[in-house]
Amino acid sequence: MNKFVLITGATGGIGKALAHVYSKNGYNLVLVSTNTNKVNELSKELESTYGNVIYSYVTDLSDEYSYKNLYEYVKELNINLKIVINNAGFGDFNIFNESDLNKINEMIKVNITALTNLTYYFINYFLDKNKKGKIVNVGSIASFFSGPYLATYYASKNYVLSFSEGVDKEVKKKGIRVLTLCPGTTKTNFENKANLDNSKLFKTLKPKTPESLAKYAYKKIKRGKSVIIHGTLNKTLIVLSKFAPRKLVTFVISKIQSKRKNQKNAQ
Ligand SMILES: NC(=O)c1ccc[n+]([C@@H]2O[C@H](COP(=O)([O-])OP(=O)(O)OC[C@H]3O[C@@H](n4cnc5c(N)ncnc54)[C@H](OP(=O)(O)O)[C@@H]3O)[C@@H](O)[C@H]2O)c1
Repeated sequence: MNKFVLITGATGGIGKALAHVYSKNGYNLVLVSTNTNKVNELSKELESTYGNVIYSYVTDLSDEYSYKNLYEYVKELNINLKIVINNAGFGDFNIFNESDLNKINEMIKVNITALTNLTYYFINYFLDKNKKGKIVNVGSIASFFSGPYLATYYASKNYVLSFSEGVDKEVKKKGIRVLTLCPGTTKTNFENKANLDNSKLFKTLKPKTPESLAKYAYKKIKRGKSVIIHGTLNKTLIVLSKFAPRKLVTFVISKIQSKRKNQKNAQ
């Protein structure tokens, strides 16, 4: 049992569920989180349940030195790393020009810059070791649309899909894959952190559990599916949207995501 998977955002809803699924399937883990207490707690829980080896690494991925430091740390560990899951990310529900610009910039750093840099470092890590490897970048159903009131978040997830598909094509023949995992609404802390309690989004599109997403993702990642979309409704929405004018699709998303009627500052 010496294969390792690295997961960023490992103590969040989806990251934690992925950590459990990979542990159950015989993987050792490198868990990356911003929170020392949470990551230590998760490590203990996984070690005692599955008896696997866990390394924890605490960092803030909005810090420009974090990616290189994380890569150097993993190199030093000298482990048999097989999979890197760039899962850390967040959204912010607001009218763009009324948003906290610091939060928007932090989102771009975590959702785009960290993911891009870690993909760069770990492709070269696999190449240097002459090894096959998979990088899984977590996009979203948002990767396929524009999203009023979550405009930067949707744009960041559009980037994740476009970037990952492009790089996957470049490195596939070298035995390295860059896959995109696209969850739909999923019951995690995401809704809370993005201030989505006021939005109709999670009320209209019933969220799935992170556990069901993680199980599904594990199977598809193993098979090397390049774009992994979770849930029949999400797949249907993406297909249907291809036949509708883009303006109409954006209008419908704007209606789904707008504030609930009983909220005071409804737009
Ligand atoms: N839940 C959904 O409905 C949904 C739908 C589609 C896509 N996604 C995507 O799924 C991924 C996981 O989200 P989730 O639903 O599991 O939400 P979550 O429970 O809020 O977890 C998000 C994770 O990202 C980490 N993170 C945030 N900012 C970070 C930073 N500056 N540096 C390092 N880590 C940071 C958090 O770390 P800490 O806990 O240490 O702060 C947390 O572990 C995200 O990329 C999200 O965009 C979620």
